[in-house]
Amino acid sequence: MTRAKTSRHRTLVVALGAVALFATAALATWTVAIAQMQQQQHQHGGAEPAKGGWLVKLAPDARTEAIQRQLRGFETTMAEIAYRYGEMYWGGVDGNWGYAEHMYEELGKTLELGLERRPEYRVSAEAFVLKTALPQVGEAIKKKDPALFKQRIESLRAACTSCHAAEKHPYIKIALPTVRRNPIEKP
Ligand code: HEC
Repeated sequence: MTRAKTSRHRTLVVALGAVALFATAALATWTVAIAQMQQQQHQHGGAEPAKGGWLVKLAPDARTEAIQRQLRGFETTMAEIAYRYGEMYWGGVDGNWGYAEHMYEELGKTLELGLERRPEYRVSAEAFVLKTALPQVGEAIKKKDPALFKQRIESLRAACTSCHAAEKHPYIKIALPTVRRNPIEKP
């Protein structure tokens, strides 16, 4: 081969190599793209929107705050407290002491969990209810004493009302329950 021929030959080899390299890269990209598309179709059922609930759809660092927002504050705690207060009352009135005790335990737990969310109410909660009026109701339940129970319930509802007054909700005055919320058979 002449010098000129050798040089042309080298250029051709380099060019062919470049084309081959480009083709390989393009093929690899194509293969990956197809695989990803198939995987997405498999996960999400074709063109449907992404599955998962509202929480999963949020960015991971927005989820904790969303959970806190949805759990809400003392108002949801209090809705549960009022429910358990009522059911505890009917348990005692019916002489269903096991049911009354269950509601008593759960009421205390509910208030504690509420204080985890809203610790600013702890001082009042302990003074008005948790370390005073509530355990006194528990004592009457354990004694299965209907007269003592009614007396202690009166103190408890006054304590609920006092805490509301102390915590800027004086219009929430707690009365004796008038309706049963659960279909519980009397013993
Ligand atoms: C720490 C003091 C405290 C004690 C003790 C307390 N509460 Fe409350 N309660 C509050 C506060 C504060 C609110 C208002 C919460 C809010 O809107 O964020 C409230 C709200 C309520 C509400 C309205 C809930 C709603 O739907 O918004 C009810 C019903 C209620 N309390 C019942 C009771 C009963 C029954 C007891 C006693 C067994 C009780 N509370 C004891 C502080 C207290």
